[in-house]
Order: sequence, then C-alpha cells, then structure tokens
Amino acid sequence: MLLEVKNLSVAYDTATILNDVSISVDSGELVSLVGPNGAGKSTFIRTVTGLVRWERETLRGTRYGDIKIEGSVEFNGDRIDKLAAHDIVKKGLIHCPERRRPFTEMSVYDNLMAGAYLVKDKKQVHDTLEEVYSIFPVLRERGSQVSGTLSGGEQQMLAIGRSLMVKPLLLCIDEPSTGLAPQVKKLVFEKIKQIQAMGMTILLVEQDVSMTFAMADRNYILSHGKIITQGTSEELMKDETVRQSYLGL
Ligand SMILES: Nc1ncnc2c1ncn2[C@@H]1O[C@H](COP(=O)(O)OP(=O)(O)O)[C@@H](O)[C@H]1O
Ligand SMILES: [Mg+2]
Repeated sequence: MLLEVKNLSVAYDTATILNDVSISVDSGELVSLVGPNGAGKSTFIRTVTGLVRWERETLRGTRYGDIKIEGSVEFNGDRIDKLAAHDIVKKGLIHCPERRRPFTEMSVYDNLMAGAYLVKDKKQVHDTLEEVYSIFPVLRERGSQVSGTLSGGEQQMLAIGRSLMVKPLLLCIDEPSTGLAPQVKKLVFEKIKQIQAMGMTILLVEQDVSMTFAMADRNYILSHGKIITQGTSEELMKDETVRQSYLGL
C-alpha cells in the first residue's frame, strides 16, 4: 500500500472528530472518502498531511484548546505520523485543500511555477508544466492572466495543476466540486479521472457521492467521524442503506 492509515482518532478539546479511522490507498488507485458536511473528511486529510499536528503545536494554549491525535500513518514504506507538514510534502504526499484559491494577484503561470518550488531540476519543471498544460489547456491559454479573474472552475483546475507541479506520489484533493455548476463539476471530475489514467494515485474527498462513485475504484463512507462502510462503487451501489442514505435512491 502507498498510504496506510490505521486507527486514526482526532479529538478537539472534548469533541471527537475522527474515531478509529483506517484507510488504505494502493499505487495507481483512485480512492474516495465521501460523507456529508461536518463528517470529518477535511480533518482526516489535514491530519494525514501534518496540518492538524502543526495546529496543535503552534496554537497550543489558545482558544482552540488541546488536540489529541492517535493512530499511525505509513506512506511509501515509512511512518510519517510524527513528521512536520513540509517534510510530508517532500515525501510526495500533496494536499490540494478545500476551496483553495490560487494566489489571486499572481498570473496563472507564476502560480504554477510557485507550485514547483521544491523541484530543483529545470528540465523536469518544464516537462511537468507541459504535462499540466496537456491536461488543462485553458491554463496555457490563460498563462499571463491574473488568477483572481479566472472562473471558479478554472481556479479549481489551477489549484490541481499547481499541486501536480510538485510531482506527487499521492494527490489528495479536498472537495474539488464545491461551488461549481454541474457542467463544470463534470469537467473537473473528468480531469481527475484523466490524471489517474496518466499514472497518478489519488485520494478524493467529496460530498457528491453519486459523481464520486461513478469514477472511483474504491470508496470509504465517513459519517460523524467513523467509517461506516467501504467497498468498490459497484458493491456500495447495491447496498440498500447506502442507496437510501447517500444516493437518494
Ligand atoms: N480547528 C477545529 N476546532 C474545533 N473543531 C473543529 C476544527 N476543525 C474542524 N472542527 C469540527 O470537526 C468536524 C468535522 O469538520 P471537517 O473535518 O471540516 O468536516 P468535513 O470536511 O467532512 O465537512 C466539524 O464538526 C467541525 O466543526
Ligand atoms: Mg471539508
């Protein structure tokens, strides 16, 4: 397994946000973590990528109170659950956050190049940029445009493109469809599928269960901080409870 999260629990002060969550992602897979608003999806990603631990260490003693984290995270053969967020990035685990807005004052091109800050090899940066442009031709067309003036869908594509510039081993995308019109949402999902087809391993966090099931290899359903069921889309779509509660069928 490329990512193996075991028995992860997170509690803010007195509230348990994640309760004994175990998730694995194998190389080449597109795995989803779906669930309603407030289920703990972003907290899961933010814990795995070291951000919640950073929050605990930097904000300790503030109004946020104490944060308890338990469980283990293994990535590409190494334990990463004690590493700092920037060292986790260096290992190739990249997080494309929810409602991420690119640096709005910067051009599309400069935003993409900012994504490549860790890559020293100029030729590699150039090749990766070409790859990103081949997935998102609109980013080439809009290269010199100020990012803040892009549409919501284009900004989401830029956010994903910028994450790809780091050459991740695992790309975690948090709710890429939030706030997008149905047609744009469909396009963004097609792009994510295309990125997987190019060899990328993806952990997709989403609220839109039916669209996610249509493209993920395997899925985990998170509700109130617990994994309530998991399986291939085919398996889950046959499950009566899942159909009623999450697919509205
Ligand atoms: N920094 C925090 N302090 C306290 N509670 C938090 C914090 N971040 C998230 N929560 C709570 O954790 C729960 C899960 O939030 P989140 O992980 O954002 O869910 P999702 O991404 O599935 O919508 C929510 O009830 C939220 O209010
Ligand atoms: Mg979220």
